[in-house]
Amino acid sequence: MSGSQQASIHGEWGSRWAFVLAATGSAVGLGNIWRFPYVVGEYGGAAFILVYLGCILLIGLPVMIAEILIGRTGRQSPINTMRTLPARYGAKPVWQILGWLGVVAGFLVLSFYSVVGGWSLAYVPYTMTGAFTGADTATVDEFFSTLLGSPGRLLLWHTLFMAFTAWIVMRGVEQGLEKAVRLLMPILFFLLLVMVGYGMGAGAFTEALEFMFTPDFSALTGQAVLVAMGQAFFTLSLGLGAIMAYGSYLSSRSSIPVNSGAIAGADTLIALIAGLAIFPIILAAGLDMQQGPGLVFVTLSYGFGQMPGGLLFGTVFFILLSFAALTSAISIMEPATAYLVESRGWQRPLATATIAGAAWLLGIGSLLSFNAWSGYTLFELNFMEIAEYLSTSIMLPLGGLLIALFVGWVMPLQVSEGELAFGNRWLYRSWLIAVRYVVPVAIAVVFLNALGVLG
Ligand code: PHE
Repeated sequence: MSGSQQASIHGEWGSRWAFVLAATGSAVGLGNIWRFPYVVGEYGGAAFILVYLGCILLIGLPVMIAEILIGRTGRQSPINTMRTLPARYGAKPVWQILGWLGVVAGFLVLSFYSVVGGWSLAYVPYTMTGAFTGADTATVDEFFSTLLGSPGRLLLWHTLFMAFTAWIVMRGVEQGLEKAVRLLMPILFFLLLVMVGYGMGAGAFTEALEFMFTPDFSALTGQAVLVAMGQAFFTLSLGLGAIMAYGSYLSSRSSIPVNSGAIAGADTLIALIAGLAIFPIILAAGLDMQQGPGLVFVTLSYGFGQMPGGLLFGTVFFILLSFAALTSAISIMEPATAYLVESRGWQRPLATATIAGAAWLLGIGSLLSFNAWSGYTLFELNFMEIAEYLSTSIMLPLGGLLIALFVGWVMPLQVSEGELAFGNRWLYRSWLIAVRYVVPVAIAVVFLNALGVLG
């Protein structure tokens, strides 16, 4: 018995493309262009990338299929779906934890995501006014540090980003989003290719290829593997209910495995291309590979300042990056919004404003961690690092683990096999083995390894 025949009360995507575009909009964002290069730089390159790619394929893809499957079968907000489905399948109500864990993780992610989305917005006028034209590395560095050093400016951009996000979510997920994604994503992709082209000519392209694709596993720590796995979850928008919520608006005729493959493929391609755009510039300009979250902003503004047409390309690029961040941020808000509308009877605008307000407040902790609160740390991590680490490296994989266990062991096989309609027993079997054994064991091993339990 499956519930996917009836639609969600929040509506349904207009077409299969609408879902793929919205889910791709969710997946492609700061995770690909800001976070991927910076963690790769921090954890040393190729070996990290290889682990990351392995995680996408062996963990991310099966979990994505599983998360969309749960969403479409439950047809409610993640919290209520995780109440209804266990009851329907005669399982214990503890599975509710999955829904709540996602909402908490969503708040954490959204809080710092909006701060970084704000950086991207801030870089639009900077680039447009020619601040980076011909600038040397010290100047672009200085620019970024000045931004981080000013809580007032960070607050302004964080507020703007959150307000934009809330405004779009208020109007409902379907309206306008698909068209915008369809138009703007290809342009962003094209601009990344322009940067790759620039790096081929002016950057240290060969060294960058070597850095990205010649692995040295001896330097790979348990921590790095955990971060790589977390990044795979983060970049694919998995583990907090975003893709589950989008899946609940998916028509029962659309193929979950095919859609998932397309989304994960596009997302991975964009991350790798972002790397190819950024690393040649870093290596040629002698920028610090391990500078952390500022890496991409410093590198790209330097690159745009050096290349012909950089003023225009750079301005458009940061507009599109902000937009890509926006389409991800709205998906992070969707689970909690849908829950408040569904269960508490709130109007959508009120629900959205409340959630955005709470995440905005939490985000202030993150933006202060670069200035006023930089001295306050726990295990040498500042506020933003804690929010980022806790959500990305711990809560999202934990969510993924529960998702895999739920579809693998609780959901009846007739339901998953019928809903997924792989059309091929062997593919279905492989997926089942992945969610039953591979994913849970892999996540557990990575967790224990990072804790040092496995030596
Ligand atoms: N996947 C998004 C990105 O790469 C971030 C995100 C994480 C979105 C979790 C939804 C849920 O930028």
